[in-house]
This record gives sequence, C-alpha cells and structure tokens, in this order.
Amino acid sequence: MNIAILGAGARGANVYGNIFSRMSGVEISAVCDTDGTKANNAKRQFNVPENACFLDEDNFFAAGRLADGLVIATMDQDHYRQVMKALDAGYKKILLEKPVSNSRSEVNEIARRAKESGTDILVCHVLRYTAFYQTVKNVIRGGAIGDVTVINHQENVGYWHFAHSFTRGNWRNEETSAPILLAKTCHDFDLLYWFADSKCTEIKSFAALSHFRSENAPEGCAKRCLNSDAAYRKSLIGLGPVRITGGACKYIDVCPFGVKKLYIDKNAPFNWGDLHAVGKNHPTVSEKVDAFKNPQNPYGRCVYFCDNDVYDHQSVVMKFASGATASLTLTAFSKDCYRRIHITGSKGELFGNDNQGFLTLNVFGGKTKKIRVGGGLGGHLGGDNGICDTFVKLLSGEKIHSDFLTTIDVTAESHNMIFDAEETGRS
Ligand SMILES: NC(=O)c1ccc[n+]([C@@H]2O[C@H](COP(=O)([O-])OP(=O)(O)OC[C@H]3O[C@@H](n4cnc5c(N)ncnc54)[C@H](O)[C@@H]3O)[C@@H](O)[C@H]2O)c1
Repeated sequence: MNIAILGAGARGANVYGNIFSRMSGVEISAVCDTDGTKANNAKRQFNVPENACFLDEDNFFAAGRLADGLVIATMDQDHYRQVMKALDAGYKKILLEKPVSNSRSEVNEIARRAKESGTDILVCHVLRYTAFYQTVKNVIRGGAIGDVTVINHQENVGYWHFAHSFTRGNWRNEETSAPILLAKTCHDFDLLYWFADSKCTEIKSFAALSHFRSENAPEGCAKRCLNSDAAYRKSLIGLGPVRITGGACKYIDVCPFGVKKLYIDKNAPFNWGDLHAVGKNHPTVSEKVDAFKNPQNPYGRCVYFCDNDVYDHQSVVMKFASGATASLTLTAFSKDCYRRIHITGSKGELFGNDNQGFLTLNVFGGKTKKIRVGGGLGGHLGGDNGICDTFVKLLSGEKIHSDFLTTIDVTAESHNMIFDAEETGRS
C-alpha cells in the first residue's frame, strides 16, 4: 500500500514519513511541500519518484489520487482547503493533522463531506493511541471507578516548548495559527470527551497572556538573543559548555528562554525544535549560532519581544450531559512537558501523570493498586507510532473498534467544545 504526504515538515516528514517508510509493505509514493529543500529531502529520504515530488498543491491535486492514503501535515490554516481538494481528488483515507480548522463551520463541513463521500478521516489526536490513555479508558469502561463524576486534567506544556512554539514559533499568534486551546489543548479535549463519554452541555474558560509580554522583559534585555551587528563579530563560540561572549543579550547565559540555554548548550532541553529554528535536523553549534544571528529568523527573537498573542495559561470548566463535570488547565510554566489526570467516580478514583508510566487506582473500601503502563516507544508516549499503525490497518481494510479512533465526527464534537469555550470565556 502507498501513502502520499502533503507538508513534509516536522510532522509530515520527521514523524509520519519516518514511521511509515519503516513499516513493511508501506511506501511513500508522493510528496508535496512548497519548500523545495524539504520536498527534496523527503523525496531522497523516502525514495519518492521524481515525477511524484511536487512543490505546489494545485499540481499535486491535479495529478488525481496518487496513493491509497494521504497525510495532510501542513499548517493549521491550510487544512480545510486541502481536505476539500483531497476529497475532490478521490482520497478515501486521510490522516489529518490537528487542529482540523479554526472555524466551527469548516470543521462541521469537513465532517459532513467525509460522511457523504464515505471517506475515513483520522485526526492526529495521537494521545488516544497511547498505552497510557487507553489504559485510563479501559479502567473506566471496566467499571472499576463506577460512574465518572469529576475529571481534573492539567496540561503542562513545558517552558521550553512554550517559548519555542507559542512565543517565537508557528503557533504564537491566533491570526496565523489558532487559539492555543485549539492548537495545543485539542488533544486534551479529545481525551476528556472520550473519558466522559457524553456530550458537553456547558463550558466556560478563563485565560490570560501573563508573562510573555514586553513589560516583563528584564531591564536592558536585547530584542534578539544574538546580535548580527558587525561590531559584535568577535563572538566567541567554544565547544563543550558553549560560551558566547559579545554580540549577545546580556542575559544570554542565564535566561532560561534565550537561544543559548534553549537550543545551543549541550544540555539544551530539546532538539526537535531544530528543524523549525535552524531549518535542519542535527545542526552543528556554529550552524545554530549563524541561524540565530540571522535577523530574519523568528526563533532568534527575545521571548518578550515577539508578535505572540496566545494565552500562556488557560483554565476551562465544563459539564457533560451525564452530569459529570471537568476542569482542564493549560500552563506554559512547567519544567517538563506532561499531563496529570485525576478522575473520580462513584466507586473509586484514578490518578496518573503520563510521564511516569503508571496509574494509581483507589477503589473505595479496597486497596490502592498501581497499574503499570510503561512508556510507549517514540514521540507522544508512543501515540505517533500508534496512530500510524491504526492508519495502516484502516488502509488494509481491518475493522477497528470505533472507540479507539479519532474520526472526524468525534473530533468535530471535541473541537466544538473548544469553539464554545472560546466564545463564552475570553478575557
Ligand atoms: N499531532 C500532534 O501532536 C502535533 C504536534 C505538532 C504539530 N502538529 C500539527 O502538525 C501540523 C504541521 O506542523 P509542523 O510542526 O510539522 O510544521 P512545519 O512547519 O514543520 O511543517 C509544515 C510543512 O508544510 C509545508 N507547507 C506550507 N504550505 C504548504 C502548501 N500549501 N502545500 C504543501 N506544503 C506546504 C511547509 O513548507 C512545511 O514544510 C500543524 O497543523 C500542527 O498544528 C501536530
């Protein structure tokens, strides 16, 4: 079976392309990216024939249905337009990155068109495909905690992830991307809707962008972490613990959000940001420094002087038709990127931190039970691999229990909760 990829960036190529191309019996048969370098890299990496590598989506879709399945991993605001074109081109199995769209009517229209045309659209709410969250669902379904009464859920984004993606990067601004509830927390709404197993009837949100604003910049802080000005050319880059002197913001060695501590130092917290920030995977230290000195590179900006407007914390409360209530909080301000969940029911309660690989179950009147889940392999606790496995099963016609699928109609419900929250509770 074969798969075409539209948008060969961090998700399309680095995640899905990589995973699918390693699966036996699966080929990446076509690729399209407006960035020639990324399109070419993907063509080479996945052995895509020259005539199936496109730089323009119109040409890509004009060529008709090029594969059994299509991955759409472009930016948020492109999804609706491209899904419509994919449906017209006759694709019947689509793996669509989240969020589906910023607009309620577009999400609902995609769901309607998919139903009419008998197309399976699987939305990349990858956490549903992890052992951790499938275990949560199985505990609830098995009745151990009785009827779900309250769900308390917190998404801790990680200060480094927030600085990268939501102040400097692709998802910093609602106009060019989406409100953060949709761009980031849509995973969590998908989980809450799944666990509550009931429609949401009331919802209210409270939020603010408290910290990543110019008035919070430390005194005398530069607008870019590294300076490209000729007067500062004597910047000294040493290997080992990286030393940058001159040509840098005076807080370069201490600012946790600055490019040195975030991307350059040996113990920098993450490397998946390199493709966005430096334009390639595994760049050298001097390639990183050059990239951040480039005045055009948005990732070289000080986090306090960006064109960001998405909230850095948000809390949502909701009620479901079953009578269950839930609260969901997103915060930028955590050391690690993880989620914490506490579900109470009429017979017991379940706790978990998805970084820890186990859940704690208390059945009232019984003993505390530790349920080992283990971490899944690969990104998103194994959810990236999980959704790819599931997509391939769908392509091969295998029947899958619908409760474990993030279909477009299920996603329309959870996205609509977000649109409601955003409409009722902006502050
Ligand atoms: N499921 C998840 O957990 C998860 C995680 C991160 C990002 N995402 C989502 O994945 C999507 C992609 O994010 P990313 O980090 O890969 O971004 P990215 O910028 O790395 O990749 C997007 C790619 O699309 C290409 N592109 C832009 N316009 C195009 C067009 N008209 N036709 C073809 N290609 C085009 C870009 O050149 C780029 O290579 C976003 O919608 C994002 O919200 C999902």
